[in-house]
Amino acid sequence: MRVRNIAGVDQLLPEFDCFIERPVENKGRWKAVFGNSNPLHIELGMGKGQFITSLAKEHPNINFIGIEKSEELVYKALQRLGDMRLSNLYMICENAENLKEIFGEGELERIYLNFSDPWVKARHAKRRLPHRKFLAIYSNILKASGELRFRTDSLMLFEFALEEIKATAMQLREVSYDIHSKPLEGHIMTEYEEKFTRMGKPIYQCIAVADKG
Ligand SMILES: C[S@@+](CC[C@H](N)C(=O)[O-])C[C@H]1O[C@@H](n2cnc3c(N)ncnc32)[C@H](O)[C@@H]1O
Repeated sequence: MRVRNIAGVDQLLPEFDCFIERPVENKGRWKAVFGNSNPLHIELGMGKGQFITSLAKEHPNINFIGIEKSEELVYKALQRLGDMRLSNLYMICENAENLKEIFGEGELERIYLNFSDPWVKARHAKRRLPHRKFLAIYSNILKASGELRFRTDSLMLFEFALEEIKATAMQLREVSYDIHSKPLEGHIMTEYEEKFTRMGKPIYQCIAVADKG
């Protein structure tokens, strides 16, 4: 997702109530941050935040954190929220590489990966968010039976994800090569999903659960 540089964006982010500047300080204590014990779901690479914001509006009894490495995109996501203050949504600007510094073991119930960058060159495979290096991190911060939900338009990345999941202790639960082939109740589309669906492309999705023995 390309977005123009925004001058002084790092100074602008902390102005927003739902932006958390130093998320590492909340490792293991996110329940206290939200002020309740509701399940915690995150989206990694939320882009401009359409998906996570809609989810948070529809599910007030679930806590959500949108994570994005681009400061500019986090700013756009915060702007999208405008004056709307959702008590169950925070956003942070972080790289997925640092998740273990931000979340304690078993602190999450669900992780969404939506339309992650495919990194088509084989030598860049380790940057793909469903790479086993990341799956090991997700398994650690997910509770037992917590879910990873991965959605993409890239068949290459989807098949890569399936192979990577099979190489770990995670258990594949659902695999779809065209989620829109049947009506989906309460389905929330991401920005990329809307774009690719309009182009007539199939959308692939799988769900894997953390198996903690
Ligand atoms: C193709 S966009 C998809 C945006 C959104 N999820 C959607 O479906 O519309 C992928 C996003 O993931 C972010 N991203 C890529 N690698 C990341 C990482 N290691 N940590 C955090 N965000 C990352 C990118 O900056 C980009 O905004």
